[in-house]
Parts: sequence; structure tokens; C-alpha cells
Amino acid sequence: MPNLYLPSSFGLGGELLESAIMALLPEDLRNIRSMNIIDLRQATVRQIEPLLHEEANHWRDELHWDYRGALELIKRFLDAHALSGCVALENGSAVGYSFYVLEDHKGLIGGMYVTPKQEQGPIGKRLLEEMLFSMRALPQMQRIEAQLMPFGGPVDDALRAQGFRLHTRQFMLLDLEKQTERGPSINSGLRLDRWNDRYFEPCAKLIYLAYANHIDGEINDQYRSRNGALKFLKNIILLPGCGQFQPSASFVLRHPGNDELVGAVLTSEVAEGVGHTTQICVQPGFQGHGLGRALMETAANALRSLHFKELSLTVTAENHTAVHLYERLGFTTIKSFTAGVWPR
Ligand SMILES: CC(C)(COP(=O)(O)OP(=O)(O)OC[C@H]1O[C@@H](n2cnc3c(N)ncnc32)[C@H](O)[C@@H]1OP(=O)(O)O)[C@@H](O)C(=O)NCCC(=O)NCCS
Repeated sequence: MPNLYLPSSFGLGGELLESAIMALLPEDLRNIRSMNIIDLRQATVRQIEPLLHEEANHWRDELHWDYRGALELIKRFLDAHALSGCVALENGSAVGYSFYVLEDHKGLIGGMYVTPKQEQGPIGKRLLEEMLFSMRALPQMQRIEAQLMPFGGPVDDALRAQGFRLHTRQFMLLDLEKQTERGPSINSGLRLDRWNDRYFEPCAKLIYLAYANHIDGEINDQYRSRNGALKFLKNIILLPGCGQFQPSASFVLRHPGNDELVGAVLTSEVAEGVGHTTQICVQPGFQGHGLGRALMETAANALRSLHFKELSLTVTAENHTAVHLYERLGFTTIKSFTAGVWPR
């Protein structure tokens, strides 16, 4: 779509021309006539900073998530002009931004935010269109994944129009102080151990097996290979993007005598006193026997003893078994958001 920015120094002739053009435009485009989209690498931290702070407030207030660590990371990349994406400028001020990262053949839309002080829908749509145009122009780009918290306004129609397949994801929260502690029962001859780094490889294998033909493997293709699952694990355990990993509230279930895993639950701290389950899975032949429930209860109890007050997680709405398990444990859905995959 052409850039609709018309400089104000057009003079009288320009104003007449502008109003003539405006009269021909659809309503939503008229509202964004002074908007300009620029490459994120041309923007400065100072320009984007107010938006980042607004966004962090949404994460804190609505998801009980301290986004400041992620924000500092974004700022560092912005400073180095190394973050790919787009910024929407309205009369010179940033009103929205979105960014993506590249991982081999895949582009990951890492975030999109549009200030609620503006009409979010049309601005978000323009940001997505411009960003996807540049992403698809990259020769290695075979797949694009997007998981967007809806702080930037509605994105579903814009993603669908761009050929994405959409899935609803739920952000769920458990009040650890309200739920009474229950002793999990694991009577299956299996051993329950705290996380240890020697479980990286066995846990990658477990994830690969547990998500075979699973809806989450469609949303995140890392689950579809052992190597991808190992990358996913290293991201959540070693890097700060999804909070600070908590080994003392992360557990594995295994047969005594070897390191092959039957189940695992991994937890991070995403704000003071707030834990987040970054992974829970049970090997297919062992599902439906109470192990998933026992792992979740073990992690919740460990968090309680560390004086955590809440535990959150995200789940795909179509994953009925998992949603049922979390609801039975007392989790409630506090936000829904969209995960999109291109091509369909
Ligand atoms: C989700 C998962 C961890 C649950 O572990 P599990 O050991 O199978 O679950 P449990 O046996 O503890 O069952 C928990 C509840 O789900 C129900 N359940 C288990 N399997 C089910 C199935 N196939 N269909 C419907 N309900 C099922 C159980 O009846 C139980 O409910 P109840 O307490 O009301 O009886 C496991 O199925 C799994 O690894 N799935 C693949 C990976 C995944 O989806 N992870 C979660 C991502 S958010």
C-alpha cells in the first residue's frame, strides 16, 4: 500500500489537493492520513521509549508480568540499530511499533504494540502489512510465526488477510494463596527429581515425543524435531526472554536407573512472586494416569514454599486435555490472544 503521508508544507494548493484525495479515501484510511511508517532501524530509543513503557504497564497490570527485562533487551537492540521491524509515526511521534527476529528459515514476530490513544486497528494493520512485505522479501523466509498479546489492538483480521492460520491461546492464572496445598501422588514406581542440566537432551526428546501430531507443533515448529526442542529448552532455561528459570520449581519424572524422561514441568519467575509454567508434558504412553496433574501440583507446592503468590501459563484453546487439567487445578483464563502461522 502506498505511503499516505502528505507533508504539511504543501501550501494552499496542497491543502486543496489533500482534501480532494481525502474525499476519495475510505474512512479508516482518512484517519491515518498523517501516519508514516519507517524502518525500526531508523528509529531512536528516545522515540520508542514512551511506547515501551506503556506496553510494560499493560504486561504488569493485565498479565502480572514484569516486562522490564525484555524491554531493556529491546532497547539494547534498538540502540545498535539491529532490530528489524517497523514504527508508525503520527505527526513525528511514535504511536506503534512491531519487530521480528529471524531464525534460520523462520521469522518470528516478537511483538506489536499500538498506543490506545490512537485508533489501534488501522495502525496495527499498516504495521503488519509493511513488516510482512519486508519479511517475505527475504529469500530464506519459508515460515512466519506470530504470538501477539492483544495490547496493540485487534490483529486477527489483518493476519487472516495476510494468509495466516490463526489459533486462540489462553493466558491462565492460579492464585497460589487461595488454592490449598495438595500432596501429589506418584505411585507408579517413577522417580521425581529436581531439574538438572544433564536433562537437557532427554527433555528435548520428551518434548519431541509428547508434541508429535499436536496442535502446538503447528504453532511452534521447534517442537517437531529433537534439535528444535533443544533450542526451545535452551531459550527458556538459559536466556531471560521468558523470565528467570527456577530450577527449584522445575521437575522431571523418570524411570529409576536411567535418564529417559516420562514427564517434565519447567517454571520461570516472571515478576516478583509470580511463576510461569514454561513447559509441562508427559510421554504419550503415560498420559491420562494423573502424572500431569502431579507434576503441576509439585511445581505449585515448590513455588508456595518459595513464597510465590501466583502461577501463570499459556495454553492453546484447542488443547482440551490441558485446559481441563488447568481448570481442575484452579487456573482461570485472564486473557486470550492470537497465535498465527504463515503459510496456512
Ligand atoms: C497435558 C498433559 C501434560 C496432561 O498430563 P496427563 O498426565 O495426561 O494428565 P492427567 O492424567 O494428570 O490428567 C489430568 C486431567 O486431564 C484429563 N485427561 C487426561 N487425558 C485426557 C484425554 N486424553 N482426554 C480428556 N481428558 C483427559 C484427566 O481425566 C484429568 O482430569 P480429571 O482430574 O478431571 O480426571 C499431557 O496430556 C501432555 O503431555 N500432553 C502433550 C503436551 C501438552 O499438551 N502440554 C501442555 C501444553 S500447555
